Amino acid sequence: MTDEPALPLKLLVMADVHLRAHRPLHGIDPASRLAHALTHARRHHPDAAALVLLGDLVHDGTEADYRRLAALLQDLPWPVHFLLGNHDDRTAFRTVFPEAPVDGAGFVQTAFPLGRHRLILLDSLEDPARLPRRHAGRLGSERLSFLSAGLEEAERAGARVLVFVHHPAVAIGIAEIDAIGLVDADAFLATLAPHRDRIDQLFFGHVHRVTAGSAAGLPFTTLASTTMQLPFHPPAGGPAHDPRLPAGYAVVLLPAADQAQPVIHHEMLPPAD
Ligand SMILES: [Fe+2]
Repeated sequence: MTDEPALPLKLLVMADVHLRAHRPLHGIDPASRLAHALTHARRHHPDAAALVLLGDLVHDGTEADYRRLAALLQDLPWPVHFLLGNHDDRTAFRTVFPEAPVDGAGFVQTAFPLGRHRLILLDSLEDPARLPRRHAGRLGSERLSFLSAGLEEAERAGARVLVFVHHPAVAIGIAEIDAIGLVDADAFLATLAPHRDRIDQLFFGHVHRVTAGSAAGLPFTTLASTTMQLPFHPPAGGPAHDPRLPAGYAVVLLPAADQAQPVIHHEMLPPAD
């Protein structure tokens, strides 16, 4: 009798919700879009082990925005893990989600095991006064030290690693996004380099579009937004994002077997309204 192969763990990742408490965004309600994605995920992936929200949780960074988000995340079948993006506000987020883990300096960062993987979630939200352009991101030495410690912990545990950051550490090829990426991407990638054999995948938000490639030899993917997508050629003079394009989220299959790599499915959703 042969043993059945162990089923892979499922991890859900949703990006760029841009929730607004009181006003629509480009004529749509991001809350209804998120509810649509959550309903789809509940129906098709109730067996997932966790849900990661990859930053830009809300659009305006108000406590009211986060309270509406908290209401939508009630009673989900999966634990939810948060990252912050450039539209978020760390203080308002922590007021509404006081139980969300933070590092010793108060950044919304965490690392935890999932199956044979260790997930490291980083906080790339930076004070705009410290950036060359508003909406760019930075990790800085303090947050990179947290990454380093997480990678060393994974080494000790013999775990594979997945790293999540809102801002991409590579140029995507769309000028509007590349102008507001991770300003210390080189330092981020240099921190990963000694552990590259252990790192299976990098996940970035911010792009509102599915892309995949490699960053300093490490595979990365970006995700569709649950709310509104970025066309390859944003229209001149108009809003960059197009709420008519299909929203989506990622389902990451994390194999139990030693030699198998994660597989990422991008679930693209039919229109919600
Ligand atoms: Fe965004």
